[in-house]
Amino acid sequence: MLMDTPRSNPLREGLALRSIPDPCTLVIFGATGDLTHRKLIPALYNLAADGALPPAISVVGFARRDKTDELFRSELEEAARKFSRQPIRDELWSSFAASVFYHRSAFDNLDGYTALARRLDELDAARGTCGNRLFYLAAGPDQFEVILENLRKSGLNQARGGSWTRVIVEKPFGTDLPSARKLNDLVQEAFDESETFRIDHYLGKETAQNIMVMRFANALFEAMWNSRYIDHVQITASEPLGVEGRAGYYDKSGALRDMVQNHLLQLLCLTAMEPPAGLDADSIRDEKVKVLRSLRPLAGAGVFRHVVRAQYGAGSINGKRVAAYRDELNVNPESATETYVAMEVNVDNWRWAGVPFFIRVGKRLPKAGTEIAVHFKSVPPVLFRATGESIDDNVLVIRIQPDEGISLRMSAKMPGSSLRIEPVKMDFHYGTSFGKATPEAYERLLLDAMCGDATLFARRDEVEEAWKFVDAIHAAWATRQDDLAFYSAGSWGPGEADELIKRHDAAWRRL
Ligand code: BG6
Repeated sequence: MLMDTPRSNPLREGLALRSIPDPCTLVIFGATGDLTHRKLIPALYNLAADGALPPAISVVGFARRDKTDELFRSELEEAARKFSRQPIRDELWSSFAASVFYHRSAFDNLDGYTALARRLDELDAARGTCGNRLFYLAAGPDQFEVILENLRKSGLNQARGGSWTRVIVEKPFGTDLPSARKLNDLVQEAFDESETFRIDHYLGKETAQNIMVMRFANALFEAMWNSRYIDHVQITASEPLGVEGRAGYYDKSGALRDMVQNHLLQLLCLTAMEPPAGLDADSIRDEKVKVLRSLRPLAGAGVFRHVVRAQYGAGSINGKRVAAYRDELNVNPESATETYVAMEVNVDNWRWAGVPFFIRVGKRLPKAGTEIAVHFKSVPPVLFRATGESIDDNVLVIRIQPDEGISLRMSAKMPGSSLRIEPVKMDFHYGTSFGKATPEAYERLLLDAMCGDATLFARRDEVEEAWKFVDAIHAAWATRQDDLAFYSAGSWGPGEADELIKRHDAAWRRL
C-alpha cells in the first residue's frame, strides 16, 4: 500500500515507497514477558536483517526482575533463535544485540522512570537516537494505568525540541466499553491521539492489507461488491490450539472479547467499508468506523437467535487426545466461558442491506485457518435446467493465513461430448506469485509506529464502537447460561452453528 507517512523518509523500492523510520529508542514495558520474546524481538531482528530499521536505534527493556544488559541479551537471543522467521546470523545478531539494553524498575516506582529518563538521554547522546521515543505497553493490562501515569509524571511523554514520543498499546484494550473508555482517557492524558498506536495484529497481516488493494485496485470485484450480487459473507478464524497456558486471561475473556471484538470485526470492516477518500490513516479509519456504526445491534432475545456460543469438550486433534476446556490448568471446572462463537451480523447500510455476514471463531478446531469467503448469488435457474446439472455459486476466498492468497470458485464445462458442469478454482498464492516470504504482522506494525503511520492501528472510536456492539451480546449472555453449547475438540463446532447458517440456506465452508 502507498501511504502518507508524514514524519518518515520515503525511499523508492521498486514501484513502492518504503519508509525508513527516524532514529529512535523503543522502550518495552514488560520486557521479560512472552510477547517480547515470541514476537517483538524476533520482529525487530527480522527488520534489522531486512535493513529496515533506522540507522540509529536503541531498544530498552523495562521490567521488574534484576538482570544485566548481557543476561537480557542472551535470553533474547535464545528466544529469537526459537521464534525468528529468518534464521539468526551470529554477526547480525551481535550488532543488533549491542543496541539492546535493560532497565530494572517496578512499574509503580516513579524513581525508576526518572532514572529511565536520564538513561535515555545518555543513550541519545551516545547513539544518535535524537530524543525520539516509542513506548510499548507490553505488560499485563492491569499495569497500563500505572505505567501511563508514571510516564506522565516523569515527563517522559513530552516530546522535546523537534523530537517525537509515541505509545503503542497492546491488546486487550479494555474488557468492555467503560474500561476501554477509561483506558483511552488515561492514554490521552499522556499522549495525543496522533501519538497513540493501538495494536490489532490482524491489521498487520499481509493479506488483511491486501483486502483493500484487491477491492479497490480491481474493477472486476468492486463493481459486484454489494447486495445485488453477494448472497452472504463468511469470516472464519479457526485454531487447533487450546488456551496454551493463558487460562488466567482467557477464562475471563472468552472468544467474543479475545477475537471478535478486535480481529474479526476489523476483517469485517475491511471487507464491508466504502472506498476511503485517501490512503491516509484517518480516511481509512473513518470508513471502518462507519461500518461499525452500521452494525445492527444484537441485544436481548436477538442474541440467542443470532449468536451461538460454545465450549470445547475432550477430543482429539491430529490424532492426539486433548482435554476438555474445563479440565485445562487454571480454568474454573464449572467455567461457562465460550471458546467458540458463531454469529450472524448485519451491516445495515445501503450497500449491504440483506446480506448477512457470518462470523465463526474457535479454539480446538481441526485446522488452523483464517479466511473471508464472499459467496455470490446464484445465476437465474433457467438456461441449464434441462441438463439436470446443479451449478455451484461463485465464491471468492481471501485466505488471511496460512498459505496466504485468493481463490475464486467458478463453474466450467467438463471436457467431453455431454454438458457436465463442474466447479473449478482460480488460485493465487502469495508464496509462489511473489517468491518472497511474508513478513510477520509485528514487523510491519513496529515499523509503521516508528514511521508515525497509524493506518494499521485502531483509532479510539473504532475500539469503542466495537465494544459497544460486543457489550450488548455479553449483557444478554449474562441473563442465562443454558444456551452454552459444547463441541468435541477436533470437531468443527456445535450443531447449533450449522443450524444458524442453514436458516439462510447456506452451510459453513470446509477449510
Ligand atoms: C490473539 C488471541 O489476539 O490472537 C489469541 O489473544 C489467538 O487467543 C491469537 O490465538 C491468534 O492470532 P494468530 O495471529 O495466530 O491468528
